[in-house]
Amino acid sequence: MPETSAPPEPILKKDMGRALISAERIAKRVEDMGREISEVYADIDTPLVLVVILKGATVFAADLLRSLSIPAELEFVSAASYGSGTSPGKLRLAHMVEGPLVGRHVLLIEDIIDSGRTVSAIEKRLRKLKPASLRLAALLDRPARREVETRIDFTGFVIPDRFVIGYGLDYAGLYRELPGIYTLT
Ligand code: IMP
Ligand code: MG
Repeated sequence: MPETSAPPEPILKKDMGRALISAERIAKRVEDMGREISEVYADIDTPLVLVVILKGATVFAADLLRSLSIPAELEFVSAASYGSGTSPGKLRLAHMVEGPLVGRHVLLIEDIIDSGRTVSAIEKRLRKLKPASLRLAALLDRPARREVETRIDFTGFVIPDRFVIGYGLDYAGLYRELPGIYTLT
């Protein structure tokens, strides 16, 4: 019988140093956001539709979903940049919501708003599906590099102009598993 291998050392976690935002602070803030969102949507007569932007927002969305006290459904969208040869910043939707959004209350869930291009492109597409309302919840807001004016209805934390990883946010596909948010560099 093959021996079970020992779980890999969480090398990164012990080498990461102090988090910019600890797991405890995130948990508290996400609880509060869930309460606030539940109050705002208290009177709607259909379940709220959370539209989660893959992949970075999945960790935040999973916690936010469980902090809601109103019924909610889950949908996913994914944005990708066009390949070389097209103008920079051009986005296409690699995955679009599966269910109809006509007349539904939609809350777009994003990990971080940087230039604002990603949510702006996605919101434009979602509006064509005629939702009753469309709002945006973002765990992080980094206003320093905004290019497109973006209205964030529910914000977790406003952060300085540093690249961040952890709690779903990646660098080259890695570090999403870190429970807190860390600056890289
Ligand atoms: P925007 O379109 O410039 O607003 O960029 C937002 C997207 O870029 C997010 O969905 C993230 O996936 C990614 N992103 C921006 N800044 C960071 C960061 O500091 N860490 C990880 N991902 C980031
Ligand atoms: Mg993203």
